[in-house]
Amino acid sequence: ATTLGASAAQTGRYFGTAISAGKLGDSAYTTIAAREFDMVTAENEMKLDATEPNQGQFNYSAGDRVANWATSNGKRLRGHTLAWHSQQPGWMQNMSGSTLRTAMLNHVTQVATHYKGKIYAWDVVNEAFADGSSGARRDSNLQRTGNDWIEAAFRAARAADPAAKLCYNDYNIDDWSHAKTQAVYSMVRDFKSRGVPIDCVGLQAHFNSGNPVPGNFTSTVSGFAALGVDVQITELDIQGSGTDQANKYRTVVNACLAVPRCTGITVWGVRDSDSWRASDTPLLFDNGGNKKAAYNATLDALNVV
Ligand code: G3I
Repeated sequence: ATTLGASAAQTGRYFGTAISAGKLGDSAYTTIAAREFDMVTAENEMKLDATEPNQGQFNYSAGDRVANWATSNGKRLRGHTLAWHSQQPGWMQNMSGSTLRTAMLNHVTQVATHYKGKIYAWDVVNEAFADGSSGARRDSNLQRTGNDWIEAAFRAARAADPAAKLCYNDYNIDDWSHAKTQAVYSMVRDFKSRGVPIDCVGLQAHFNSGNPVPGNFTSTVSGFAALGVDVQITELDIQGSGTDQANKYRTVVNACLAVPRCTGITVWGVRDSDSWRASDTPLLFDNGGNKKAAYNATLDALNVV
């Protein structure tokens, strides 16, 4: 097949991109996005600060623009994200304890209910584990409401939208040997054993020279999948250029293709200039919208099977 989405679909997978509502008027951007991808994640528009700027006053205007663009172009949606320590609205940043727990659960319920039936998978909780060797939870106002805040968020999301797959999403959990990876693995195993609703693990997969594609990446994908959850590569971007970058993209795609429960890949933007770290030129299209070597390698890898 000749596009990323159609090529991934040959093995029952999807190939998505992050979409920014503010760029939907850019026809160069929407032309590529409409042609190549079959899954959409709102880059910022469904986050907590965007959807509940004042407590109890929900604003879905930007999120709905992304969702409507996806639907009218025949694409599915990943929801990102219902509970996160970052990009909280000011009112939530100042909250703690049971007040915060109640507000967080209300947020999860309201936003998941608004998008009910439209979301393939929600990143219910994002980035809740600490970096480094501790394997601990990340300290945050949400974590300080009690260690069970994550499972409470998942239960609220399941109740609000039973058809959506519910994912735990994080970065730096790509190397199987890292403490953070093993800590997330233990949490997911615990959730599965106790019947806490969880369906998928999202590997953000933001790679650069300091955080390269690990040699054991396929083991990480298969390791999580062995728990009986889907694995999705949710925010892929890889610093670099030329053949070297192309080979790294090929490695990541092949890792997903090697694991039946790796259900899809999303890149975190369309053109390099759309990236949150544009100077790394980490995406599949250059600033002019031209296909890069990384694009060709990705397409070829998707078409091998
Ligand atoms: O929209 C405002 C604009 O009005 C204002 O003038 C400008 C001034 O700073 O800021 C604009 O908002 C920015 C927003 O992106 C939209 O461009 C925010 O400051 C900026 O913080 C925000 O960055 C986003 C970042 O998440 C915030 O945490 C990036 O676009 C987005 O790509 C990035 O995505 C995250 C995932 O959600 C989670 N995983 C890591 C990933 C990369 O950091």
